[in-house]
Amino acid sequence: MGKFFTKSAITAAVFFISGSAYAACTAPGLKDELTQEQVNEAFECIKEELREGYAKNENPWAKDYVNWGRAATAPYLADVHGNRFVNYTVNEIGYREYIKYSDERENNPMPVGSVLAKEIFNVNKKKQVTKGQLFFMEKVAAGGEAEKYGNWVYSVIKPNGDTQKVSQKFCHDCHGAFSDQDAMGYPNEEVRLASE
Ligand code: HEC
Repeated sequence: MGKFFTKSAITAAVFFISGSAYAACTAPGLKDELTQEQVNEAFECIKEELREGYAKNENPWAKDYVNWGRAATAPYLADVHGNRFVNYTVNEIGYREYIKYSDERENNPMPVGSVLAKEIFNVNKKKQVTKGQLFFMEKVAAGGEAEKYGNWVYSVIKPNGDTQKVSQKFCHDCHGAFSDQDAMGYPNEEVRLASE
């Protein structure tokens, strides 16, 4: 009897903690089963909390990126970056070029000062909507340390607002393979904006 009581007390405590940590955002299915509308709803539920966390970082982009141009029509499940949901925005300097999603960039790189942002969330096996990191790529002038990474500087902010250390090489080893796209991966075709 005594034993049983302890066990259910622990279960209750665990439930309470996870309940508050996930802000009661629960998806109606596993991540591969969700319709676009359900993905949008999951994002709407977690969005505010996600952005509050990032905004604690001292980098002004961590607040500004929400006002940048949307570079995809909706968040979607990306099979890179850990098979999680991603949402894209691009700052004013890069926006018009980015949304051409051009694959003829070998002699036509993105303008210096372009910053691309990708916010990430997930739906775990318990169908809870969870927070992921905020990823950035910034195009910098040629001739600096970033030259060996295509003049891109990669950075990551954790959901609690801390800066996550990243290896430029790790990010660029993968991004650099998109050589005719100036190292950009671009969102899935289904969520690309109709370019002008
Ligand atoms: C395994 C390959 C891979 C690795 C490693 C990787 N990325 Fe990506 N990244 C992609 C692909 C593919 C896309 C576009 C498609 C997508 O998001 O599903 C992308 C998209 C992005 C975008 C949106 C802009 C664009 O179109 O490329 C940013 C920002 C980004 N990644 C940052 C990073 C950072 C920062 C790192 C290192 C911490 C990183 N990536 C590591 C493959 C990778």
